[in-house]
Amino acid sequence: MAQINENYLQLPGNYLFSEIARKINKYKDVHPEADIIRLGIGDVTRPLVPSVIEGFQKGVSEMSEAKTFRGYGPEQGYSFLINQIIANDYHPLGIELTEAEVFISDGAKCDTGNIQEIFGLDNIIAVTDPVYPVYVDSNVMAGRSGQLGADGRYQKIVYLPCTEANGLKPELPQTKVDLIYLCFPNNPTGMTLTKDELKLWVDYARANQSIILFDAAYEAFIQEQGIPHSIYEIEGAKDVAIEFRSFSKTAGFTGTRCAFTVVPKSVMACDSTGKAHELNKLWLRRQTTKFNGVSYPVQAAAAATYTSEGKKQIHEVIAYYMTNAAIIREGLQKLGFKIYGGINAPYIWLKTPGKLTSWEFFDKLLNEVQIVGTPGSGFGPSGEGYFRLTAFGSRENTEKAMERISKLNI
Ligand code: MLT
Repeated sequence: MAQINENYLQLPGNYLFSEIARKINKYKDVHPEADIIRLGIGDVTRPLVPSVIEGFQKGVSEMSEAKTFRGYGPEQGYSFLINQIIANDYHPLGIELTEAEVFISDGAKCDTGNIQEIFGLDNIIAVTDPVYPVYVDSNVMAGRSGQLGADGRYQKIVYLPCTEANGLKPELPQTKVDLIYLCFPNNPTGMTLTKDELKLWVDYARANQSIILFDAAYEAFIQEQGIPHSIYEIEGAKDVAIEFRSFSKTAGFTGTRCAFTVVPKSVMACDSTGKAHELNKLWLRRQTTKFNGVSYPVQAAAAATYTSEGKKQIHEVIAYYMTNAAIIREGLQKLGFKIYGGINAPYIWLKTPGKLTSWEFFDKLLNEVQIVGTPGSGFGPSGEGYFRLTAFGSRENTEKAMERISKLNI
């Protein structure tokens, strides 16, 4: 009989958001009439903006004529999109990139999950705790994690707790690590790092020859000054960091799928003889072997986010979600909840009331007021006793949810 990859047996039974969906479906089976408000998975609810639709439609109609039809696209993505990304997302920050350093893809989830393939199995990885589960699970699948301990931690992974004691900001590892996953603005806590705080990580990586895998999928939600939108705003980061970005939350592409990863040519890691190699070349090799690119209409739609009209329309949608975030923050604060995030990120991280566990609070919200959120413990052991709500709902549902929570018996 064929054998399985036994690393998969080390994983929790279900992916976090699949487990939540399973629980909702079970509840709906018993209460088919329930008006459930979903503030769990960070999925957008506003439609694609008119400029994006126009770009999309133009792309589709070009596919209908032999003259403008396109088959396989360029391996790293179309130049028209890559150049817009460099000119609009990086150049204004004083960051220079070449086209060959940007890789268009179908999601930051896929890229943050796949990137570990270009690294050896003996690398020690560090993750913040709580953390977006994809970083951990993809390393478990690869066999880099060791066994899951009774404390909910994999033996070989270095966890960097983000707790009330450190203001939910990770501290530098005490031991040497090779790969560091950082996500800022953070999913799930909604917290950010200042430039000075992020510089500590870049300095650590440079001193220890580590690589930072920087997930900046939520940078468009930053409202305050002084918070880096890209890790490359920090001097020296281009030698040690790979950055992931996405159109999913920025422009409502969760169903449409488009993202990009920046792998500067200067980021190197060594082989077993100590010889240094460009990670850019390895990622190119990996992508060209396993991925055939994002469809032309979708890349045309993504490029339309950079027109002046497109930028304005997207900005309005982000402002809409950030108003939701303020409604949730203020509503919960009035009710006496201890909360974090929601100022520069679409996530609000709250302490569960009455010492309820994260899943107990999940059940209480679902059963008593039909609201779905995400249990903090699903993001790691330090998330126990916390709960995440997203600002991506409609205004109506966000307001309704706050009204319902105010009636909750706690
Ligand atoms: C989340 O809810 O954490 C995100 O939606 C997950 C994702 O973007 O894959």
